[in-house]
Amino acid sequence: MDLSNLQKVLGVTGLGLGLVVGVGLGKRFFSQSHGRSFKSHGGAKDDPLTKYVLQNSLREHPVLQKLKQRTLEDQNYLMMVACEEAQLLANLATLIKAKKVIEIGVYTGYNTLNMALTLPADGVVVACDINMDFANIGKPFWSEAGVEHKIDLRIKPASETLDELLQAGEAETYDFAFIDADKVNYCLYYEKCLQLIRKGGIIAIDNVLWGGRVLSPGNDAETLSIDELNKKIARDSRVNVSMLAIGDGVTLAFKL
Ligand SMILES: C[S@@+](CC[C@H](N)C(=O)[O-])C[C@H]1O[C@@H](n2cnc3c(N)ncnc32)[C@H](O)[C@@H]1O
Repeated sequence: MDLSNLQKVLGVTGLGLGLVVGVGLGKRFFSQSHGRSFKSHGGAKDDPLTKYVLQNSLREHPVLQKLKQRTLEDQNYLMMVACEEAQLLANLATLIKAKKVIEIGVYTGYNTLNMALTLPADGVVVACDINMDFANIGKPFWSEAGVEHKIDLRIKPASETLDELLQAGEAETYDFAFIDADKVNYCLYYEKCLQLIRKGGIIAIDNVLWGGRVLSPGNDAETLSIDELNKKIARDSRVNVSMLAIGDGVTLAFKL
């Protein structure tokens, strides 16, 4: 299926474009239309430096490896988070002793499983998606890893789930949130997550470089939305920020 059609079907465009290391050129961003893919499970895995990074740092749980292999059989596999990025998120969650996590955009649940594996026995990942078929691909692996009980899957628009958490009095009780769903709602997700995350907690936002399209957003609603959030966080005194060129770009907002 053509990428733009696939994006319409899915209601998201996690399929964006490429982030690779352009050695010597000082250029880091290439789109798939330029023949380069950005994710370690996409074409970028053939990039020598990406290979080196993975060979020398990736420590993937055996069930995560299996879930990745299964996900790669799915036609929408480019939506999956980059493995080395997910590992960074898990390391950060461990560092801040996270117990309560929100995942906005689950797909087959690679990062949901990744986070559930890193949480203590009484930890929880509130996993938000609108597509049960995607989650059904991942669920057997969540179960095989013995962490399904830590995953609270909510199939409905993420904004509704976030509102429910707020209405349930859970403001400032979450430690970590990962925003990785429909790009046009990024600002809304960020604001709701800021309410739900405790001080010292972390909000990670995926695809913030959008394969380089943020450099010239044009009229594309998704690119404009990502760019708007990037600029908003840059001057947001409620958080400290780091924007990292890993995967398709991830912003880490540390709540003050
Ligand atoms: C890029 S994928 C998520 C990848 C995932 N974080 C991972 O670890 O591989 C985006 C997901 O967002 C979901 N999605 C799209 N619109 C949504 C919405 N309004 N609310 C919740 N999920 C949504 C899609 O169904 C899709 O599974």
